[in-house]
Amino acid sequence: MSIISWDDFNDEESAVATIPQTASQTKPAVAPVAPAAEPTPSVARAASDAAPALPADASAADRAQHAVAHLDVAAGLEDLEMGAQRILVDDKRMINCRADLNQLVPFKYEWAWQKYLDGCANHWMPQEVNMTADIALWKSENGLTADERSIVMRSLGFFSTADSLVANNLVLALYRHITNPECRQYLLRQAFEEAIHTHAYQYCIQSLGMDEGEVFNMYREVPSIAKKATWALKYTQSLSDPTFHTGTPENDQRLLRNLIAFYCVLEGIFFYCGFTQILSMGRRNKMTGVAEQFQYILRDESMHLNFGIDVINQIKNENPHLWTAEFQQEIIQMILEGATIEIEYARDTMPRGVLGMNAAMMEEYLKFIANRRLNQLGLPEQYAGVTNPFGWMSEMMDLRKEKNFFETRVTEYQTGGALSW
Ligand SMILES: [Fe+2]
Ligand SMILES: [Fe+2]
Repeated sequence: MSIISWDDFNDEESAVATIPQTASQTKPAVAPVAPAAEPTPSVARAASDAAPALPADASAADRAQHAVAHLDVAAGLEDLEMGAQRILVDDKRMINCRADLNQLVPFKYEWAWQKYLDGCANHWMPQEVNMTADIALWKSENGLTADERSIVMRSLGFFSTADSLVANNLVLALYRHITNPECRQYLLRQAFEEAIHTHAYQYCIQSLGMDEGEVFNMYREVPSIAKKATWALKYTQSLSDPTFHTGTPENDQRLLRNLIAFYCVLEGIFFYCGFTQILSMGRRNKMTGVAEQFQYILRDESMHLNFGIDVINQIKNENPHLWTAEFQQEIIQMILEGATIEIEYARDTMPRGVLGMNAAMMEEYLKFIANRRLNQLGLPEQYAGVTNPFGWMSEMMDLRKEKNFFETRVTEYQTGGALSW
């Protein structure tokens, strides 16, 4: 009988499906090495518990029972990279921690756990947002100007891949180097939120019937978007070498550069032109579904940013030798590069005034944002005399009392249920 699906693989078949044994599997290939003079207790126990050989035709059930009975727990835990004893708060460190990372409590960084709880309380899903009015407006002949349409396309083009860049950086580059379980708990929550954000952009693109290939390839094909993606990607590549480890000043600084590139520049500067444009559109009662999706995303992103700043500053506190004058200069330059790239994006997406704003106003706003990022990192502001031309954006980032800006209804998510509109 051929196997149709996993469920068709019944007990009788699994009992018959024994793995053929070769001579090398049934007998040791080499003579056992003489024991060391003073074997460690776990090694000694493993030797004394050495299992009798199973007959070649033993069933899968017998093999499983045999394997469990002879599992050497003590030796297995010794293989953990970190110590396996009960941990104390003082053992915990943001990076290069040698204490057991599987013990979530006692908490050292209460703020990280609180952000995890806040992130969960803000849970939302893209399908809960009504896109009907957007679809009608997008498909109507004269619903939006050519400049407004271009802004919607470019925003979805940038963000549809940007959140994947962030998620990949978290999971493939950053996670293993943050050696604190409450922070890792938040990183896992953030990674899921990034998946929801990518889902939201995909949901908008699909609802509006856009050319998906065109939108998802803008980060490679539209220069002002490609520049943002390229700038960030090099910091992921910097950590993604599997042999890379923190623990030297040079490598710890490399980790800090990655954190600053992603939290302060990508999420903290590169998102701001597009967010402001789309939210301004929503305030003008256009593309209100897309704008509402962006509003939820912005609420999540402002928490990601705050978490990242807290992590960076905690690493600075615990490792002041990393924060040299030379390194600070380098970080200032990274923030200024980020602002410059985002200002170019603003000029590219707003060749004329649109939605009550223009590229010059956005430039002022981005310089204001860059100053804030520098401030948050304890670095001197670099743009003198700039002010915030979009005061309403601060309102949008209020996590607690946020209101639906076009219908003035509270949009706080009710965990475990749908929003009631
Ligand atoms: Fe995101
Ligand atoms: Fe994010």
